[in-house]
Amino acid sequence: MEHFGLFLSLTLLFLSPILSLTDVPELSREPARPLAFVPHDRSKSEPQQVHVSLAGKDHMRVTYITDDKKVESVVEYGKQPGKYNGKTVGESTSYRYFFYNSGKIHHVKIGPLQPNTTYYYRCGGNGPEFSFKTPPSTYPVEFAIVGDLGQTGWTEATLSQIKSQDYDVFLLPGDLSYADTHQPLWDSFGRLVEPLASQRPWMVTQGNHEVEFFPIIEHTTFKSYNARWRMPYTESLSESNLYYSFDVAGVHTVMLGSYTDFDSDSDQYQWLQADLAKVDRKTTPWVVVLLHAPWYNTNDAHEGEGESMRKAMESLLFSARVDVVFSGHVHAYERFTRVYDNKADPCGPIYITIGDGGNREGLALSFKKPPSPLSVYRESSFGHGRLKVIDGKRAHWSWHRNNDSNTLLADELWLDSLSTSSSCWPSNGSTDEL
Ligand SMILES: [Fe+2]
Repeated sequence: MEHFGLFLSLTLLFLSPILSLTDVPELSREPARPLAFVPHDRSKSEPQQVHVSLAGKDHMRVTYITDDKKVESVVEYGKQPGKYNGKTVGESTSYRYFFYNSGKIHHVKIGPLQPNTTYYYRCGGNGPEFSFKTPPSTYPVEFAIVGDLGQTGWTEATLSQIKSQDYDVFLLPGDLSYADTHQPLWDSFGRLVEPLASQRPWMVTQGNHEVEFFPIIEHTTFKSYNARWRMPYTESLSESNLYYSFDVAGVHTVMLGSYTDFDSDSDQYQWLQADLAKVDRKTTPWVVVLLHAPWYNTNDAHEGEGESMRKAMESLLFSARVDVVFSGHVHAYERFTRVYDNKADPCGPIYITIGDGGNREGLALSFKKPPSPLSVYRESSFGHGRLKVIDGKRAHWSWHRNNDSNTLLADELWLDSLSTSSSCWPSNGSTDEL
């Protein structure tokens, strides 16, 4: 099946020059690049695959893995290199997948931390020193966003381009490692992203490639993902690592799960409803949502796959006046106008597909013709996006195409927060009557 998929991808890429690919002028498109496997070159006791994530107000979670099960789950940290005033003991987990046994996966929540501050830290009382910067508590704040990352030469190009320009928080709308049950690829992915993910919080949600259901052998879904990429679900009163939310400097970000229950009687739906109801748009003017399978999509790839979730949840997001919805899954870039229920609506979210991180499956090359008037920009290229929130009213969105190994600004947009649009809110400020 995998070989067939690879054959299909290669065939499509071979045919790409003669297919009508996008609505933008013809570009030279290079084929998918090979796997970028990152070998294990540290000792068994040395922490590896280090990444950090936001973990509730003023806290960060440091995650690392050791082969040596005797290594403690402990993080020492401070504001000066080599001087660790703080020390926190956390917890650890591990998992088994068929014949594969994971290393010891450590999760250590540290804080309280000051905003917009660099901290130096060491994991497990051993190994190299890392550093991260906490996000600011006030504007401006910048998010780097890309889904369907994978681990190929294109992924390396994308990561290098993201790293070349600073950002505060990384957002990933699903499909991380493309391990697809080959568990050592999860470890390789952890090593590949460590240079970035150990320095800035990486906030992720899951895609179909995280499910890893295997008939007869493995029935526990999201086993690797949940063990390795623990997100602040308890901190946001969710009962599942598959959906959660967090706040950064006046931006409330909601991560949803496309591959867990979302109907109105589901835990996810009930949690989302309660979570959105708590947002005070006076103090938190921006609301951003990420999920994997897009609700709006004019690419032939994955057509209609997000439709049942859209039907179940779209009215919740619309009533809450969500500003932007990011998704992945489709390996291309596409930006829609403000939409609600398949119609342009000035009070609906902007929908953006950003599944173009550089995975092994290649690009989704075929868009529907004629173009939908709701779709403003669409292109089959690898790249990444940036949402720079200037203040409570304005934000700048930009999409950066991986042009060979250089980055090129290809699409941009100034956004006004819906919190500032008086026509989208009833006079009492409540959405109950909408
Ligand atoms: Fe996907």
